[in-house]
Amino acid sequence: MSGHILAIDQGTTNTKALLLDARGAIVARASRAMVVSHPKEGWAEQSAEAIWQSVAECLSDCIAAVPGAEIAAFAISNQRESVVLWERETGRPVGPCVTWQCMRSAERLDRLRSAETEALVAVLSGLALNPMFPAAKIGWLLDATPGARARAERGELAVGTIDSWLLWNFTAGAVHACDAGNASRTQLFDIHALRWSDPLAALFEIPVAILPDVKASDSRFGVSAAPDLPSGIPIHAMMGDSHAALYGHGVRGPGIVKATYGTGSSLMTLTEQPVLSKNGLSTTIAWMAGGRVHHALEGNITVSGQAAAFVARLLGLADADALTDLARTVPTSGGVVVLPALAGLGAPYWQAHARGAISGLSLGSTPAHVARATLEAITLQVRDVFDAMQIDLGIALSALSADGGAARSDLLMQLQADLLDRPVLRGAAVELSAIGAAMMAGVAVGLYAATEDEGAAEEAVLRFTPAMEPARRDAILSGWSKAVATAIGG
Ligand code: G3P
Repeated sequence: MSGHILAIDQGTTNTKALLLDARGAIVARASRAMVVSHPKEGWAEQSAEAIWQSVAECLSDCIAAVPGAEIAAFAISNQRESVVLWERETGRPVGPCVTWQCMRSAERLDRLRSAETEALVAVLSGLALNPMFPAAKIGWLLDATPGARARAERGELAVGTIDSWLLWNFTAGAVHACDAGNASRTQLFDIHALRWSDPLAALFEIPVAILPDVKASDSRFGVSAAPDLPSGIPIHAMMGDSHAALYGHGVRGPGIVKATYGTGSSLMTLTEQPVLSKNGLSTTIAWMAGGRVHHALEGNITVSGQAAAFVARLLGLADADALTDLARTVPTSGGVVVLPALAGLGAPYWQAHARGAISGLSLGSTPAHVARATLEAITLQVRDVFDAMQIDLGIALSALSADGGAARSDLLMQLQADLLDRPVLRGAAVELSAIGAAMMAGVAVGLYAATEDEGAAEEAVLRFTPAMEPARRDAILSGWSKAVATAIGG
């Protein structure tokens, strides 16, 4: 079969698009930088219109790059847990896109919090009662926007995660749906019964009628009808970015854990059944495809690759690459510890109120030490989640597969191997979220063969092997543990 798959990876910092040919080779790429606003301390929001606009532009760029390419399907991978509320009649957003890093619902959650509610939410949705997740953000949008709750109850409004919002725009308002993986991140989805949960909707005061239809991740979700895009092309895969990356690694069964280094980081591994974490991880649906539900255990880190960009700005450097170059000029971080709790701390700590810090400074400290400590911090957060995963699963995990924009840095990958004390495997392409969604759509339309081999998608894998002396690693780990304990008041 001939044809191409045009895949979107709509992330917090960038929107990216890849055009893949019938062999799975990338034949065009496009991207747009995204703006995140912070109108109040701890708040984070984006323009929902700008999100769709960036997607439409990236798609158009890829289409223009390969004139005449026949597109068999669109595929969507998206930043998860960010929500948009919009009018069904006009498709206009009601309020901003409240993003996953936003803490505006923290007080709302504090009012709901009790041992009973935490247990109910964990058992039904698999998630912690933390403001990263959308349920309380939707409640906030309904209450903060004059008339919105009444309009929602009259059926005039729709809500959705970014996959739903893009699908609505792709189909010119014909389809309001999301995939089961994205639904499982909302705190409103019963991951056992595989439907919206009435008790959770009641707890968070969300009218179920405003929620999208939940479908398998490889569904034929609808066909394109948006202005300026080719019409009649099916949207044939929707997946949260972390889920898509796991699929893109070729993982089809338990045993492999991957880390995506994006704005935040996510470690994810498949499990045969839902595993309820005792160590601060999330129980999630990885994807529903080929008539099967794939469950996963996941740890979300709220600020990861973004920490490098943030500290680069503090140090007056151009960008994260410049920070990495500076970090390379010193052999160690000289005892400096950077704690990038810039949007609270996610897994495995879930401390929404934790704040970032730089500690361990001395008169000998230089910006280069701070730069190196920032890269170490990215990998130390990953290590904390990796350790929690091993305890929850009751097994020793032997390696880590890496993807995402920040994974391009060899120094970061070497530090990860050193501080995790495990080999880190990085494929030739790091855009595995878009690739994973494209693979799922390609299988669904019969363009690509389904693979059941774990890791089969990895062609040229580069292996980073631990090389740090144990005493040095222990010293870094001990400094890190103290910084975390201070931030969470331990
Ligand atoms: O869970 C949040 C995650 O999906 C965000 O992804 O690509 O914006 O870092 P990204």
